[in-house]
Amino acid sequence: MENYKVMIIGCGRVAAKHLKAIAKNSRRVSLAALVDVSEEAAKRLSPDTPYYSDYKKAIEEVKPDIVAVTVPSGLHYEIAKYAMEHGCNLLLEKPMTMSSGESRDIYDISQKTGKKIAMGHIYRYFPIVGLVHDDIKDGKFGKVTHGSIYVRWGHGDDYYGSAAWRGTWKSDGGALMNQTIHAIDLLVWLMGSTPVEAASMISQRKAKIEAEDLGMAILKMDDGSLASIEGTTCTSDKDKCAEFSVFCEGGTVSMGIRSGKPSLNIRDINGKKLNGRYIRRQIRKGGLGSLLGALNPHTAIYSDLIESLDTGKQPIADAKAGYTSVDNLMGIYKSAKNKTTVKLPLDEDFSSVDMTGYFGG
Ligand SMILES: NC(=O)c1ccc[n+]([C@@H]2O[C@H](COP(=O)([O-])OP(=O)(O)OC[C@H]3O[C@@H](n4cnc5c(N)ncnc54)[C@H](O)[C@@H]3O)[C@@H](O)[C@H]2O)c1
Repeated sequence: MENYKVMIIGCGRVAAKHLKAIAKNSRRVSLAALVDVSEEAAKRLSPDTPYYSDYKKAIEEVKPDIVAVTVPSGLHYEIAKYAMEHGCNLLLEKPMTMSSGESRDIYDISQKTGKKIAMGHIYRYFPIVGLVHDDIKDGKFGKVTHGSIYVRWGHGDDYYGSAAWRGTWKSDGGALMNQTIHAIDLLVWLMGSTPVEAASMISQRKAKIEAEDLGMAILKMDDGSLASIEGTTCTSDKDKCAEFSVFCEGGTVSMGIRSGKPSLNIRDINGKKLNGRYIRRQIRKGGLGSLLGALNPHTAIYSDLIESLDTGKQPIADAKAGYTSVDNLMGIYKSAKNKTTVKLPLDEDFSSVDMTGYFGG
């Protein structure tokens, strides 16, 4: 079996999770090089791995099979485009890019080149989520009426002060764009319908940043169902939590994570708990160890990308998921900016940079 060469570009916080995930998949992937503008950051991550400061030179010399794009979000577009055009598949961190047009472009390039993209949309890779997705899709819960998510991912000044790009419209966006986009992707994927309208409001309550630290939105789906969204970094950084619920005519599915501990509440329409069935099915499908997948979902993303390269199947969170989630998010921002409901998919490019000055300053 082929062993795929991985190069990580960007050696900060999330890259440490990639390093662990590569180690867990070491029978099939190996870390060939690290790239960062800071040599210190790369050496801190892995002192013995070959280091480059220039990603173009690194790609040319190392010719990796997989490039993990883990730089600040505002740099995703240029690096993802260059890497795919030079023969690499991607593990691309969320958000795919900072605009709907750029994300469409990355999706188109992946279609044209046949290069695979697995997005860092970790929630799709949590244990049991895949089973629930398939059951909702197969109609086992009946018609979906509505869904909701909250992401209360508290961050203090130390987080926002840790790098100049955080919380800026150009390179990060706010709580919806950074902390919530992959949860929105999950909710839309589970509901199995397509957003056709977005209505939203955003606010700044606590963090000293350019973008929002609180956002609320409603998506209307093409089957008439509604999705409600709350994303914030205003809450306690000692009690980070996120939860989604999908409500169906035949039952309700809720799953979440609070301070690192997962929760599960799956019930039929009579209120009978179905958790045990799903836990047993997950163990049969992935083994007992797969229940711990929420501890480092990046391990499952690498496994999925490996399978995709072996077999040609699309990754679970693929280029289309990356593009549509940015398009939905840009619709949410545009609705907040224009104080009106916005049609989805967007018919014109909208960028997080178009929000510059929204809160003044
Ligand atoms: N999927 C997830 O769960 C998850 C979690 C955290 C972060 N992320 C995403 O990962 C990305 C990085 O976030 P982070 O918190 O690790 O950021 P970070 O600031 O900790 O790390 C970014 C690194 O990129 C380096 N860098 C900057 N410009 C570069 C360039 N031109 N070439 C090479 N390296 C460069 C920086 O020196 C830094 O070491 C963001 O897009 C973020 O949204 C995803």
